[in-house]
Amino acid sequence: MATAPKYYIKTYGCQMNERDSEIMAGQLDQIGYQVSPKDSEADLIIINTCAVRASAEQHAFGYIGQLKQLKDSRPQMRLAVAGCMAQEPGTVAWIKRHAPHVDLVFGTHNLHELPRLLEEVEEHEATVVEVWKSAGDVVEHLPSHRNDGVRAYVNIIYGCDKFCTYCIVPFTRGKERSRELPDVVDEVRALAREGYQDITVLGQNVNSYGHDLVPALDLADLLEALEKIEGVRWLHYITPHPRDFSQRLISAIAHSQTITHHVHLPVQAGSNPILKRMNRKYTREEYLDLVSRVKTAIPDASLTTDIIVGFPGESEEDFQQTLDLVREVRYDAAFTFIYSPREGTPAARWEGRDPVPNPIKKDRLNRLMELQYQISLEANLKMIGTTETVLIDGLSRKNPNVWAGRTQSNKVVLLDRDPAVDLIDRFVPVRIEQAKTFYLSGRQAGAPLSGRSPRRRVELPLV
Ligand code: SAH
Ligand code: SF4
Ligand code: F3S
Repeated sequence: MATAPKYYIKTYGCQMNERDSEIMAGQLDQIGYQVSPKDSEADLIIINTCAVRASAEQHAFGYIGQLKQLKDSRPQMRLAVAGCMAQEPGTVAWIKRHAPHVDLVFGTHNLHELPRLLEEVEEHEATVVEVWKSAGDVVEHLPSHRNDGVRAYVNIIYGCDKFCTYCIVPFTRGKERSRELPDVVDEVRALAREGYQDITVLGQNVNSYGHDLVPALDLADLLEALEKIEGVRWLHYITPHPRDFSQRLISAIAHSQTITHHVHLPVQAGSNPILKRMNRKYTREEYLDLVSRVKTAIPDASLTTDIIVGFPGESEEDFQQTLDLVREVRYDAAFTFIYSPREGTPAARWEGRDPVPNPIKKDRLNRLMELQYQISLEANLKMIGTTETVLIDGLSRKNPNVWAGRTQSNKVVLLDRDPAVDLIDRFVPVRIEQAKTFYLSGRQAGAPLSGRSPRRRVELPLV
């Protein structure tokens, strides 16, 4: 019997790309492929790309280039480029010119066509390019190969209609399309039956969920339906947009122990002129009002954000307002980025294109990170002496005698390991004893909660 062909998928970017990769993998399993742990042994490599910043693109271009050698030594190997970069005309042109060793390019709207596209590759010498410019209907019931463990991602809304002036996502992911509520409920119910207990619902704009359905729904309707499903212990939702964060949603979160009290509220900038130029559709005052309503209703909320520095026109004074806002909100953590102009977005067409000089951008990023690290440390220090439920993901990369996991609010927790006891995928009560900027550590404070995934891992994962 011939051995099954093997695939390797390299995923860049956000959780939506991770989920798309699981769907690609599921389709490949169905047509007889097996997963390969290494790219060098694979018969098919898929690079699932991200276009959100130039650095993400550089990584993918570098990897595509690097695979030329592998392809030369294994000509039967097939190489496909998928994801958000594939939606950009510039990428297809680059591949045709610089990377003819790529066999297939397909986009974010037609990944369900993967089996047919692979057949087409065998019929053509030149690179097969099949990228849909816009999204079709939502495709349900695709097979999927999920990660091991008890954590699972579930799409609830695709695309984004917000058109922030710096952002490529509305162009690579198309208009907003929500999945029907019963389809999401059925998927989560099936996952819970399989042993998945930590569910993350996904969208570029989760709190626009349901606005396009008939009759219209709110994200709170969906979360309230999902939290009732037996076996669902934690329910996360990413990424929300501050603009549509309804009072109903705040109250649904406040009244639930299942819906995470981790509230990610991407602010992007602290000054009104910059927010306006970014087309974020809220003011600094409206944002701060939202934060204070969240804090009042959910006193144990863990707040995080995304911030861009060096947006066109950002003056030192504008930046000071960002620092000021960070001091006022006191986020648990912030993801901070240097502005990266994206071809095809409105901001990239403005005069001067990317006027804030690089050294100034870097200096602002450093000052912002320094401030945030101090606040993160102070927030973590406050947790010393509390007992947190921690979902164990695997062994610490730095020390195999230590377990690494996360709290419901997504804080990393380290825990000394007794090699005789397997805690993987277990929800373990941990008394927090130490706090650093990026993690907490502590001691087990009771038996793991009941229930675990029926899936078994061959090796203990490093996290
Ligand atoms: N839908 C989400 C985020 C999507 S992208 C939201 O609206 O919050 C994730 C983050 O990348 C954004 O929040 C933003 O901070 C950052 N980002 C997006 N485009 C960028 C660009 N052109 N340059 C730098 N950072 C960018
Ligand atoms: Fe991009 Fe703005 Fe949409 Fe987020 S809301 S994906 S930043 S356009
Ligand atoms: Fe990147 Fe596309 Fe996600 S651009 S951030 S992979 S939606």
